Amino acid sequence: MIPQSFIQDLLNRVDIVGVVERYVPLKRAGANYVACCPFHGEKTPSFTVSQTKQFYHCFGCGAHGTAIGFVMEYTGAGFVDAVKDLAQSVGMQVPEVKSERPRGKTEEGDDLYAVLLKTAQYYRQQLKNAPHAIAYLQHRGLSGDIAKQFGIGYAPDGWQNLQAAFPDYNAKALVAAGLVIQGEEGKRYDRFRDRIMFPIVDQRGHIVGFGGRVIDQGEPKYLNSPETALFEKGRELYGLYQGRRAIRDAGRVIVVEGYLDVVALAQSGIGYTVATLGTATTPAHVQKLLRQAEEIVFCFDGDDAGRRAAWRALENSLEQLVDGKQLSFLFLPQGEDPDTYVRKLGKDAFEKLLGDAQPLSQFMLRELSSRVDLNTYEGRARLLQDAKPLVTQIKAHFLSRMIRQNLAQIAGITVQDLDREYGVRESKPAHAAPPRTASAPVRTPARKAVELLMLRPDLYRLVDRNDLLAARGAPKIKPEEIALLDALLEVFAESTTTKIGEYFRDSDLEKLVREIEVTLLNRPEASFQEDELKEQFLHDWENLKLAIGEGPRVMRRKILQEKQNLSPEEQSEYKALLQPQRTGLVK
Ligand code: UTP
Ligand code: MN
Repeated sequence: MIPQSFIQDLLNRVDIVGVVERYVPLKRAGANYVACCPFHGEKTPSFTVSQTKQFYHCFGCGAHGTAIGFVMEYTGAGFVDAVKDLAQSVGMQVPEVKSERPRGKTEEGDDLYAVLLKTAQYYRQQLKNAPHAIAYLQHRGLSGDIAKQFGIGYAPDGWQNLQAAFPDYNAKALVAAGLVIQGEEGKRYDRFRDRIMFPIVDQRGHIVGFGGRVIDQGEPKYLNSPETALFEKGRELYGLYQGRRAIRDAGRVIVVEGYLDVVALAQSGIGYTVATLGTATTPAHVQKLLRQAEEIVFCFDGDDAGRRAAWRALENSLEQLVDGKQLSFLFLPQGEDPDTYVRKLGKDAFEKLLGDAQPLSQFMLRELSSRVDLNTYEGRARLLQDAKPLVTQIKAHFLSRMIRQNLAQIAGITVQDLDREYGVRESKPAHAAPPRTASAPVRTPARKAVELLMLRPDLYRLVDRNDLLAARGAPKIKPEEIALLDALLEVFAESTTTKIGEYFRDSDLEKLVREIEVTLLNRPEASFQEDELKEQFLHDWENLKLAIGEGPRVMRRKILQEKQNLSPEEQSEYKALLQPQRTGLVK
């Protein structure tokens, strides 16, 4: 476990606005910052970041959390990795954590990330001494700048060159990182030899693997790192890290097939391109990309292999579709790939081509229709049959509906019939904003006190925690709110800079904390004067004490109520207890 104190120190050092801006450009809006939510599709921004409170909240989809939560949700990192990432960004050292999953670490504790980074540096260095490799890159039209930007290097010819970079060539980490192959009879040798090396960088900027191209001719043309603890081909995309800014700016991302396509497009000024790593496009890829861009264009070769790859991409995208985002397919002319095309015809021609990409729905319906004879009932029946497993995967409400309408029309049946056959029940749009709570929760004195305390932790000094002791069982008291209030007073007494969102992570009170944080985002008290706040807080506290004080009164009243034959004293006491208690403070 990472100590809570470290988490708090970390959250005090990082600024959530800066952290979010690494991935999502923010605009100022009053006291907060806003953007279109990276976690669901939307056109008007409901994603809000509070700098004063150091958390984010999306009013559309409910995404919510601290800087750590954001890195986890955005990059898919685990808690520990997110903490490490943030710590690194502010130059803090995470205290050694035990009993966490061994991602990135081998038994010896060697850091695979460090091994891969060192290797990449070595390959880059080697490129300088390899005229034939440099000549090849030049022949492919790459500039020195772009090679540098993508960290392109060269793995020299020979069997154990990595010995030059790693004195202990027998270290397990070299095999675990996929750089060295353990042959039979204990012989070890470098996986990559005499190849141009493309480092594969994950979303956080760590090198997780390599692709190596043979120089000129040879088999295999590309050799890729095997999957390792750090590298999962179905999740990583080549160029995503280098292209993140351009993707944001363009609002779209092109998915191509090859390393060199990404690099060539970037060189020609189309930086918003990524490539899958010699594998099909997976749902995880699509999900990752849809977080970054409004639009994905899949760009494939025009040959049969390209069409098959496109269809796979389509199949793996269906579940990820979101209304408001657009996926389309572009097929290049026979014999061209993005690299050759952009070199011959330039940036503008390529971007013009992008405009002609077929929307996913169109590609799907055309492709399915082309496989059958629409002039016969049999053909149309087959179309409906073939489309069913695809269409029923689409969760994007409006898109699904329009596709079903179109399909019904092509087949010549009503959409109601089609829906019945498909077992589709009209549901509420998915991914739409969840209904906001119709009425604001009743704000009890305890709740008001909690809110103010969350706004200004140092108010804790004004009150006595012991006042809460008798709260249990008191009427008009929500135990959860008292528990939270009590916890806040305790926590703030230790440090008023504690970020409570992280403090209460995974606790019973997390939900309440989150709910209250959200209501605080746009509350006027945030701009109150110090004195006003104090006064308000004390006022709420008095009301709270009063509510707590009613506890014994109510108990006593109940006792007397049940009792037979009250004495005259008891009778007058009972009468008094029936009167509501009054003070000037209660409003
Ligand atoms: P291509 O064969 O289309 O090559 O493979 P390319 O990207 O156009 O490369 P150049 O222009 O000839 O240099 C497309 C992608 O498929 C994977 C690689 O990721 C490659 O970039 N691939 C291809 C392999 O993994 N292994 C191979 O042997 C070939
Ligand atoms: Mn190519």
